[in-house]
Amino acid sequence: MVNKITDLAGYLEKYRQSVADPEGFWAEIAESYQWQKKWDKVLDWKFEGESAPDVNWFVNGKMNITENIFERNMSSRKDQVAIIWEPNDPKEPEIRLTYGELFDKVKQFANALLKLGVKKGDRVAIYLPMVPELAVAMLACARIGAIHSIVFAGFSASALADRIIDAEAKIVITSDGGFRGTKSIHLKNIVDEALANCPSVELSVVLKRTEEKVHWEEGRDVWWHEIIEGESTSNDAQAMDSEDILFILYTSGSTGKPKGVVHSTAGYMIFAEYTFKNVFQYNDGDMYWCTADIGWVTGHSYIVYGPLLTGATSIMFEGVPTWPDAGRFWDVVDKYKVTHFYTAPTAIRALIAQGDKWVVDHDLSSLKVLGTVGEPINEEAWRWYHDTIGKSRCPIVDTWWQTETGGIMISPLAGITPTKPSHATLPLPGIQPILVDPEGNELKGNSVEGILCIKFPWPGMLRTTYGDHKRCFNTYFSAFRGLYLTGDGAKRDEEGYYRIIGRIDDVINVSGHRIGTAEVEDAINQHPKVVESAVVGYPHEIKGSGIYAYVICEDLSDREMATIENEIRDTVNKFIGPIAKPDKIQIVSGLPKTRSGKIMRRILRKIGEGDASNLGDTSTLLDPGVVDEIISGAKVEVKR
Ligand code: WTA
Repeated sequence: MVNKITDLAGYLEKYRQSVADPEGFWAEIAESYQWQKKWDKVLDWKFEGESAPDVNWFVNGKMNITENIFERNMSSRKDQVAIIWEPNDPKEPEIRLTYGELFDKVKQFANALLKLGVKKGDRVAIYLPMVPELAVAMLACARIGAIHSIVFAGFSASALADRIIDAEAKIVITSDGGFRGTKSIHLKNIVDEALANCPSVELSVVLKRTEEKVHWEEGRDVWWHEIIEGESTSNDAQAMDSEDILFILYTSGSTGKPKGVVHSTAGYMIFAEYTFKNVFQYNDGDMYWCTADIGWVTGHSYIVYGPLLTGATSIMFEGVPTWPDAGRFWDVVDKYKVTHFYTAPTAIRALIAQGDKWVVDHDLSSLKVLGTVGEPINEEAWRWYHDTIGKSRCPIVDTWWQTETGGIMISPLAGITPTKPSHATLPLPGIQPILVDPEGNELKGNSVEGILCIKFPWPGMLRTTYGDHKRCFNTYFSAFRGLYLTGDGAKRDEEGYYRIIGRIDDVINVSGHRIGTAEVEDAINQHPKVVESAVVGYPHEIKGSGIYAYVICEDLSDREMATIENEIRDTVNKFIGPIAKPDKIQIVSGLPKTRSGKIMRRILRKIGEGDASNLGDTSTLLDPGVVDEIISGAKVEVKR
C-alpha cells in the first residue's frame, strides 16, 4: 500500500524526514492523489499575528475528495464492500454497500441536492442517526462542494438550532427518527422545534427510518426517497480548491457557545488517509470497525473519510454496546470477523463493569489491532482491553487527537511502535509536539510535564472557526506565541513517550465527549429558580469525568427542594442534550469567590475529587465559611 510505513526504522526515518523537510515529505504523499490541477506551492503558513492562523496547504491545487474515494480506486474496488451497516436490532438484516453501489447512491443524492438548489459553499446541516444515508449525505455534499455540518443526533433542539444558526445552513437533512437500544427517538420533532428559530433554513430533507408519523411542513419538507426517485447516477465532481471548506464541526471549548471548527479539503483528505493506514496498519481484506458516531470527529475521519480513501471496508453500527445485552460488541466482532476495532475508554470501562461473562463465549480470534480515543485510558482498562479482548496478542493504539487536528497526532503505529499502557507514545510523521510551562518556555528533554502545543502546521489542522477568525486566534494561538495550544496537559517520559494527562482548561471529557463547563452553567442558569452555578468535572469510574454542578437557588420550599435536581437535569437536557446532564448537583448558599468576584474553581474541583485536605490558599476568598458549608453538604465523601 502506498505511503505506508512498515517497520520502526521506517517510522524513525519518515519522522526525521518530515521535520527536516515537511514540504517534501507531504508533497510526496500528495502525489498519489487524483488532482484536477496540481498545486503551485506545498505550504504557506503563519501561526503569529492578527490574521493567524493563516495556513494553506497545496496552494491552488484543484481536486474533489470523493474523486479520490471513488474514481481513483474504482477499477480495483468496484465490487469490494465499502460500508457494512449493522442495525440497532440484530434481527434486522445488515446492509452491505460496495464501492460501486455507494458511489451510485452518492451521485444520485448529489444530483438531488443540486436540483433542490444546493450550491458549492452552501452549508448543509445533517442531523441523522447512524444509518448508511448519513455517509451518503456527507459524501454527496462533498461531491457538489456543499459544506456539511453534522450535528450529533443526541443534541437537543436548542443545541441543534444554535449550530444551524451559526453556520447559516440553508438545508437540514434528517430522518423521522432513530433507534438506539430500546429507544426510538423522534428526530423530526426535534428538527421542527429547532427550525422554528432558524430563518436561514429553506428546506429539510427527511429520510424514513422508524416509520413514525411526522408533522409535515408543505413547501419546506421533502422526503429523501422522493427526491432521489429517477435521479441519475452520473455526476461530475465539483472542482474544489485545496483550501475550500470541506466541513464544519462544532465543538466545545472553555468559554462561550460551541465553535464551528473548519476543515478544508486537500489537507484534511491527505491527513485522514495517511493517519488511518499508518496507525491502524490496515491491509486489504481486513475488516475495520470504529464504534464512534459520525456526529463526532472520530466518525468523520475514521468511519468515513480515512477508511474510504484507503479503500477499506468500514463497519457502521447503529446501536449501543449494551443492547440486547452487554455482549453486543463481541457479537458484531464475531459476526463480521472484525480485524481492527476502535472504541473509547468509557465503553471499555462500562463493559468491564458488566463482567467477563459477556466476552468469553464469543470468538474474537479475528482481532488484530485494538484502538482507543477520546480520553486518557487508565491502566486497568488498558490491561483488560489488551488481555481479555486482545488475548495479549493485539497491539493497542492509544490515539491522541482532537476535532481541531482533523486526525490522529500522537499514537503508536500498530505492531510497529512498542506500546506502554496509558501512553499515546510518539507523534506521527509530520507532527511536531512541544511541551511548555505556563509562561510558554519550552520544556526540553525527557521526563518533563507541561502544556501540550504543536509548533508546526500539519495538513489536517483546523483553518478557522466558522464566521469568527479572531476567536480561532484567541482560542488556539494567543496563549503562546507561534504555537497551537491543544488545551491538554502531557508528560514526556524517560523514553520520550507522550502520556496525555487531560484537559488543563474548563473542558471536561465526559464519556469521551467534550463538554464545556460554561455551556452547562449557561443551561443550568436557564432554570427560573437558579441564581448562579459552577460546574466542574470529577473522577467517574465509567465516564472518566462526571459533571458536578454547584448551584445557588432562590429560596426553595421543601416541595421545590425535592424536585429541583431533576428539574435542573431536565433543563440541561433541553438546552444541550442528555450527554451534558450533571451527575451530581449540590444546592449551595454561596460559591467560593475571590474579592473580585471570580469563582475559585480549583476549590470546587478538589471537593468534587473528595480531597479537601489541601485546598491551598483560601485567604483571598470573600467568605471562607462557604467552603466548609460546601464540604459538609458535598455529594461525595470528602477527606479534610
Ligand atoms: C481528549 C476526539 C487522552 C483530549 C478525537 C483532547 C485524549 C480531546 C485522547 C479532544 C487520548 C482524545 N488520550 N486524551 N488518546 N484522545 N483525548 O475534540 O483531552 O472530541 O483534547 O476529539 O479528547 O476531543 P475531541
